[in-house]
Amino acid sequence: MILVTGGAGFIGANFVLDWLACGDEPVVNLDKLTYAGNLHNLKGLQGDARHVFVQGDIGDGALVHRLLAEHQPRAIVNFAAESHVDRSIHGPADFIQTNVVGTFHLLEAARQYWQDLPAERKAAFRFLHVSTDEVYGTLTADAPAFTEAHCYEPNSPYSASKAASDHLVRAWHHTYGLPVLTTNCSNNYGPFHFPEKLIPLMIVNALAGKALPVYGDGMQVRDWLYVKDHCSAIRRVLEAGRLGETYNVGGWNEKANLDIVHTVCALLDELRPRADGQSYKTQITHVKDRPGHDRRYAIDARKIERELGWKPAETFDTGIRKTVQWYLENSEWVAGVQSGAYREWVQTQYANV
Ligand code: NAD
Ligand code: TYD
Repeated sequence: MILVTGGAGFIGANFVLDWLACGDEPVVNLDKLTYAGNLHNLKGLQGDARHVFVQGDIGDGALVHRLLAEHQPRAIVNFAAESHVDRSIHGPADFIQTNVVGTFHLLEAARQYWQDLPAERKAAFRFLHVSTDEVYGTLTADAPAFTEAHCYEPNSPYSASKAASDHLVRAWHHTYGLPVLTTNCSNNYGPFHFPEKLIPLMIVNALAGKALPVYGDGMQVRDWLYVKDHCSAIRRVLEAGRLGETYNVGGWNEKANLDIVHTVCALLDELRPRADGQSYKTQITHVKDRPGHDRRYAIDARKIERELGWKPAETFDTGIRKTVQWYLENSEWVAGVQSGAYREWVQTQYANV
């Protein structure tokens, strides 16, 4: 049994689905179901006794304590977080609460549980913390990619809160001996990605005939990894990662935002051409830049490849095609998330552009 937190969100849901497709070890899934948590992501597991869903907060120490005592997991994989940079700029408090205070309470509950385990299970226990490359800050155009030794220079409330959580995880290892592992991954894309993030927002807006809002000049660079490759990296680190180590995870796929948007438009032109015969590219609109916008992220993923033999399975071309196809085939899922909080958020974000 493993405990997954945030397993109804984008990456967590992909992780839970892949985990149960790869083996039979059950999962307890603790998720608060914020606007980003969506039980439809886990529809494929309805009636599957290997998946126990619990709605709750990682910051609720008593609840986490009870779940650990009841289910006796051999590992915790912590995905739960507030994850959207733009939201963190408008309202940082939730980010501090979940990403910093919540991680603290989760670590404390894990430590108490782990300390009392019998010797063999204590030695085998793992706390895997899922983090981001954004903790390293921004790179200039020709700087080498982030290695695990790069200093932490977070620039947004989101990345600062994730950096703080990474530091807590590190300290719980060095001070208390908690057997932790941390992964710092680049931008993910794929199925179940909430359409507030660049790639799904562009697909969904394009199909709805809306503007495709590109921040500033659109030449900011991100390093894109197909979500299922991130999930396989986490499984590998959980299995064989060295205690207390951090592993960068990336796909060697640096792309400027504008290139990403052009690729999405070209795929949609091919797979679902506009009725008027024009390209979706005509919908691209340059809008006001994000404050403090990091110019470039790039991951040096050599350590995880060298030590653990992990490499991504998808290229960007195969991954982005699968992703666009998934959104075309899952319009019901898209309609489901385009309600309530999501609609209000999009209105706030793009009202003044
Ligand atoms: P997401 O926003 O799609 O999902 C987050 C999930 O956590 C949601 O299901 C939400 O309901 C849940 N959650 C939020 N606060 C909670 C709380 N207090 N208690 C319990 N559950 C809570 O995020 P994601 O994109 O799936 O990211 C998952 C993790 O991976 C995050 O820690 C993020 O920092 C990290 N990460 C994301 C990316 C990316 O490109 N999306 C890249 C690298 C790392
Ligand atoms: P995002 O998906 O929010 O991920 P992150 O900020 O964590 O990297 O954004 C990816 C890039 O796309 C980032 O440089 C901001 C940019 N972007 C746009 O240009 N327009 C948009 O509407 C969004 C959501 C993002």
